[in-house]
Amino acid sequence: MKRKEYSIAVVGATGAVGTEMTKILEERDFPVSRISLLASTRSAGSSVEFRNRDVTVELLFEDSFEEVEIGLFSAGGAVSEKFALIAADAGCIVVDNTNAFRMDPQVPLVVPEINPHAIAQYKKRGIIANPNCSTIQMVMVLKPIYDAAGIRRVVVSTYQAVSGTGKKAVDELLDQTRDVLNFQTAECNVYPHQIAFNCMPQIDVFMENAYTKEEMKMVNETRKILEDDLIGVTATAVRVPVCCSHSESVNIETEKKLTASDVREILSGAPGVTVIDDPASSKYPLAIDASGKDDTFVGRIREDESIEKGINLWIVADNLRKGAALNAVQIAEILAREYL
Ligand code: A2P
Repeated sequence: MKRKEYSIAVVGATGAVGTEMTKILEERDFPVSRISLLASTRSAGSSVEFRNRDVTVELLFEDSFEEVEIGLFSAGGAVSEKFALIAADAGCIVVDNTNAFRMDPQVPLVVPEINPHAIAQYKKRGIIANPNCSTIQMVMVLKPIYDAAGIRRVVVSTYQAVSGTGKKAVDELLDQTRDVLNFQTAECNVYPHQIAFNCMPQIDVFMENAYTKEEMKMVNETRKILEDDLIGVTATAVRVPVCCSHSESVNIETEKKLTASDVREILSGAPGVTVIDDPASSKYPLAIDASGKDDTFVGRIREDESIEKGINLWIVADNLRKGAALNAVQIAEILAREYL
């Protein structure tokens, strides 16, 4: 029997995440009958290869979603706020990678390995939200620990790649690096400061409580995905001069005592997680190794000697893949397999 195929739209198809979405649909042989690649006037008319043929990028407009069954959105919050609603009204199920609907109680916020059951809630608004990249890789590791021992509090510091900001930021890092090495002035257009040879403790805008929006996304989204509002989460989000893959230093206070080897064993069996933890031979997860891979990598697992029930660890994942495009395509796969 021929399997059912779906008409798919990728909104923001020429961006850092959109490009990965199209690539991953092809790599994972998603059942696509038709693909619409949508973007702004800047790139409409250009072409993108999908399954060995050139697909013309079209301008996103109100009628773009007629007869589209699943829309993968990654063109920024403002575009989603307007067009996700238009798409959902036209009967297209939206998997939205932006911040626009993540905390909407009517919209499920999903990491397929963690809370696939939440997808069933998509019918309320026709929208499923993809969490923030730093949240996804963190909950991939927190959930198995949460199930085994409960979690009281999480303290996280991130070391985030510039590709999370988009293609322009990657160009800016490379241009600035070249300029600095050539004793030229580095031009800053994307970030408020030079990012080359620097670390910047600001991701997204500052909120009234002095945290950045990115930091509060990690707090609120973690609680929503783990369905536990009592977990304490505090975050410091830092942009570093890395092109791809986010790294995170995470301190976890558990309810029940776990040893480092308990945690190693728990995480070794976790879906989508790979443990790399051999300090004697300097083996631990690295951004350059995680890039292009699907798994979330964890290492430097050790007991926090300053508290009774605490663990420290280091988590790395490709922010464009598991942190964005792959997670969205995995959601679409479950939708197609179980709901459509
Ligand atoms: P375009 O390339 O035509 O500007 P990134 O996250 O790498 O910056 O990419 C953002 C993506 O979102 C790009 O594909 C970009 O298209 C698209 N985009 C940005 N603004 C709009 C808009 N107003 N309408 C449609 N697509 C948009």
